[in-house]
Amino acid sequence: MQEQRKYIHGQWSSRWAFILVSTGAAVGLGNIWKFSYEMGERGGAVFVMVYLLCVAFIGVPLLMSEILMGRHGRRNLLSTMRNLAEESGLSRHWDLFGWSMIVGSLLILSFYSVIAGWSMAYIFRVGSGIFSGQDAEFSEQVFANLVSSPEIMLAWHTIFMCISMVVVSLGVRSGLEKTVVILTPMLLILLLIMVGYAISTEGFSEAVTYMFKPDWSVLAEPGAFSEVVMPAVGHAFFTLSLGMGSIMIYGSYLSEKISIAKTSMVIAGLDTAVALLAGLAIYPLVFTYGLDPASGPGLLFITLPVAFGQIPLGELLGTLFFILVMIAAWSSGISLLEPTVNLLIERFNHTRLKATLFTGSLVWMLGIFTVLSFNHWKFEFNFLGQHRDTGIFDILDVLITNIMLPLHALIIAVFVGWMMKRTLCKEELHLREGFLFKMWHVTIRYVTPVGIVLFFLSAFFG
Ligand code: PHE
Repeated sequence: MQEQRKYIHGQWSSRWAFILVSTGAAVGLGNIWKFSYEMGERGGAVFVMVYLLCVAFIGVPLLMSEILMGRHGRRNLLSTMRNLAEESGLSRHWDLFGWSMIVGSLLILSFYSVIAGWSMAYIFRVGSGIFSGQDAEFSEQVFANLVSSPEIMLAWHTIFMCISMVVVSLGVRSGLEKTVVILTPMLLILLLIMVGYAISTEGFSEAVTYMFKPDWSVLAEPGAFSEVVMPAVGHAFFTLSLGMGSIMIYGSYLSEKISIAKTSMVIAGLDTAVALLAGLAIYPLVFTYGLDPASGPGLLFITLPVAFGQIPLGELLGTLFFILVMIAAWSSGISLLEPTVNLLIERFNHTRLKATLFTGSLVWMLGIFTVLSFNHWKFEFNFLGQHRDTGIFDILDVLITNIMLPLHALIIAVFVGWMMKRTLCKEELHLREGFLFKMWHVTIRYVTPVGIVLFFLSAFFG
């Protein structure tokens, strides 16, 4: 493998740089927009608890595995999979898994960018003060106007894709690292300001109860598995950016000297902290102003502006809030572009600029499906007892959250746990044959695969 272990695209400058870029990749719309509306629709604290358990017991070991694979392979996703497979005496067709990650990352980015576009649109809507003193009905109208207008959504989607492409085209150190090392701390500061405000509202204690006091009886209700457990498991993978190659590629830019185990725990910890803080920034406002937690993907965009319209300095806070959402989305968006760009550079000798333009344009076109899902092409369907009403956008969500993410997680666990040599994993993780390594190995070999297989079995049969 020596030859392949050269750094073709450059390397992160330090452990902290890697932590910040990976946290930037992990923290995104998933933590703020998706986590808050899913929690509201799916049983509050019970959803939160299932998600937290998954992050701790399945998420962290998988994060370590994905970084390990990336750093050991040091190449684009296809070559990495092929090299790792050959090294373990397996078929080179494992590169198909590389393709699947590429497809997944592009599909995620295609809808991600549209939603990120909403948050950019809202920076100006909230900032202009139109919500001042208005009620939920008005806010619903503003949101409906946005999503019923494909032109406006397309424009914001285009802008978001452009800013993501600019960063990626500048390269690993001078683009990704330089940008995200500023964006991630900025996001944390903005978030703390928001939580500081939320603590002072009446709804704060209700929000804490809602988020952290589970009513386990929810799980005994019919349909709880598909309505609560499945989405919570899928969300744990989504929020940690697992199984889509982003983390694998970021791992391939990581220096050998750095400990993967410790770094993974820090990244997962920060990602979880941001999700919980985002909940603590959003829910107190929802409760203080009597808004509906279960209002779906519009929660952030319909309910919160009402709150911003009531509170002192609401315009300022609201603007800051949507800037925060945009920043979070931006640093994740670039991590979704990078795997394909990296592939095109290595495979076809494209320049970084050309590879970025090509990938970005492809995703931009795919994004049109999501843009139209909310208006001209809207339709309803049922999936395993979940009712969905936004056409292709929901098909993508179901396909990614419920199928691709858990399946990719399963493949990674089986690959690392059963196919790769134990000594090699130990070396790459810088761990000795101690408690930590054994815990990780047992989890990745047994707990994760069995958990995910049970997940699929219950989803489809029962
Ligand atoms: N983790 C990101 C979020 O929570 C989404 C993402 C998924 C990014 C997969 C990269 C890869 O918003």
